[in-house]
Amino acid sequence: MSLQSFASHLYGTPISTAIRETSWIIPAVQSVHIIAIAGVVGAAIVMDLRLAGVLATDETPRAVVKRHLPWMWSSLALLLTSGFVLGLGEPYRVLMNAVFWVKMALVLTGFTLTLLFRYPILHPDYRIEHARAAALIKPLAWASLAIWVVVVFCGRWIAYYQ
Ligand code: HEM
Repeated sequence: MSLQSFASHLYGTPISTAIRETSWIIPAVQSVHIIAIAGVVGAAIVMDLRLAGVLATDETPRAVVKRHLPWMWSSLALLLTSGFVLGLGEPYRVLMNAVFWVKMALVLTGFTLTLLFRYPILHPDYRIEHARAAALIKPLAWASLAIWVVVVFCGRWIAYYQ
């Protein structure tokens, strides 16, 4: 089944029709999506700028990551759920949009980077200056922050690209 016929099939399902035809669902879910963006980007700003040595340098990276990582995960779960509902409501417009797939690839990259790059820091014996790839920490922190910012741009761009 091609992506196009999958999107057409989804479009005809009762749930997709209900999402589209119930006037409050899309704006309400979009609002939830935007609130969750604040959670992801807020947590990324604080954690990445700490790891880049710019913010909260009077606290250990571990303390900052430990405090903000749960916000990142719960906001991402909310984004995934709300994004799924938005996509289900307009499957053709979303699934056939190249910017949507660029955004999904970046979300996956940001997620993987967060997973690989944050958990070692949570270990009680972790010392940033003795880390195996200490020289990579600052560039990775900036890269991670840049990824989330580009994801926001892609999210907004979906509506303007066909
Ligand atoms: C995790 C999976 C995600 C899915 C499946 C998803 C899906 C979607 C969909 C379908 C839309 C509506 C696009 C349209 O109709 O124009 C949207 C909008 C948007 N998304 Fe996501 N998204 C996800 C995660 C994220 C993340 C992590 C961010 C940013 C950190 C983000 C930022 C945005 C923005 C800024 C918009 C535009 C909102 C608006 O103007 O109403 N999304 N997303």
